[in-house]
Amino acid sequence: MLRIEVGPSEAIAEGTSIEVLHDADTYVVCRHQGALHALEGLCPHRNGPLGAGNFADGHLICPYHGWEFDCVSGAYDRNSSVKLKKFPITEREGWVYIEIA
Ligand code: FES
Repeated sequence: MLRIEVGPSEAIAEGTSIEVLHDADTYVVCRHQGALHALEGLCPHRNGPLGAGNFADGHLICPYHGWEFDCVSGAYDRNSSVKLKKFPITEREGWVYIEIA
């Protein structure tokens, strides 16, 4: 199990997302309706950096061509068979971690 430190929980405000880089991997962490979510950070279309795009109404919006993904299910809005991988996320003593199996 790999535990990636994201940072202080308070730095991820409601309705915001951040990009998390670890080695060669990119993740996006967001907070929607009080809950934290961790997802793969590169768009399955052409690798747009989802953490650098907008986050609105629980949707990650790719900055390259505008594909939108539900942060809860990871699904692409126009084709739910296209999904971002999700990862467990934990909070300990005010710090946020992504857990990679
Ligand atoms: S790379 Fe994300 S929509 Fe094209």
